[in-house]
Amino acid sequence: MNKISIIGAGMTGATTAHWLAEREFADIVLVDVVEGMPQGKALDMLEAMPIIGKDAEIVGSNDYAATKGSDIIVITAGIARKPGMSRDDLLKTNAGIVGTAATETLKYSPDAIFIVLTNPLDTMAYLTMKMTGLPRERVIGQAGILDSARMRAFVALETGVSVENINCYVLGGHGDEMVPLTRHSNIAGVPLREYIPADKLDAIVARTRKGGGEIVNLLKTGSAYYAPAAACAQMAEAILKDKNLIVPCAAYMNGEYGLNDMYFGVPVMLGRTGMKKIIEYKLDEDEKATFDKSAAAVKETHEALKNVVEF
Ligand SMILES: NC(=O)c1ccc[n+]([C@@H]2O[C@H](COP(=O)([O-])OP(=O)(O)OC[C@H]3O[C@@H](n4cnc5c(N)ncnc54)[C@H](O)[C@@H]3O)[C@@H](O)[C@H]2O)c1
Repeated sequence: MNKISIIGAGMTGATTAHWLAEREFADIVLVDVVEGMPQGKALDMLEAMPIIGKDAEIVGSNDYAATKGSDIIVITAGIARKPGMSRDDLLKTNAGIVGTAATETLKYSPDAIFIVLTNPLDTMAYLTMKMTGLPRERVIGQAGILDSARMRAFVALETGVSVENINCYVLGGHGDEMVPLTRHSNIAGVPLREYIPADKLDAIVARTRKGGGEIVNLLKTGSAYYAPAAACAQMAEAILKDKNLIVPCAAYMNGEYGLNDMYFGVPVMLGRTGMKKIIEYKLDEDEKATFDKSAAAVKETHEALKNVVEF
């Protein structure tokens, strides 16, 4: 059985374990600093397995040693956004948590592929790659599947069409400057712009951009976790089953889209070696301008990181 370790057994980490257990392709380890909590959640989930008829081992621990020999390490430890708090406010605290989680788990799983969720996402993925010294193929950030799923859900609500027929591509940084590509998005092959009136489409794009904040404001404490965790489980499955699935993820840019030395949301191919390749869309001038604006915002956070962490 494959082994996936999740660092941070909070709402997103535990829900990722839940979605993963349902898919039955890996044993799961939950690690958290809170004593007893990962053990309790893991045991509770393990006791659900006979009911849903899935054979997956799930254990909880406060010790990184439990992650030994993992195929995938998911990092979702950190502080979640609170109402009115920007993702960038989280930078300093989460950099310390993520840096330690990445370097400690690598000692026990030198061949693992890292999926990073902790915010600010693009910068935490960048930090993980820099601190572990791993090649870019093995450090991938989760953002674009979630942002695209939000847009797909809103399009489904507007049109009444099955979510399965709706393809949306949201690229760029995981922030308010993200780039929903309406020209490339479609319903069963029909371009979104032909299917939905312009004003309605504009509203969907705006709601997508604020999708994370909408949930933060409703919940009052904490941020979204069902959809982010489902996105993470899809990434892990694509990697371990070597599916060559093309989905938007945060990847290290090495000249693609004219960007360098930064993580950014782009379509990537996920398979057993991790991020196998980056797919480059041909962007028109407007799209390129939005892309560049988003990239500038991410770069700014990367630069801010360099003031709080040495690597
Ligand atoms: N990329 C995305 O799409 C996405 C989506 C959801 C959440 N997130 C981010 O993921 C992070 C977690 O969110 P959440 O909703 O699960 O929060 P949460 O507060 O429910 O869980 C975070 C957990 O991390 C644990 N933790 C803190 N320091 C740790 C350490 N050093 N080692 C191990 N565990 C530690 C906490 O005890 C807590 O249980 C946040 O940064 C959030 O912004 C990102």
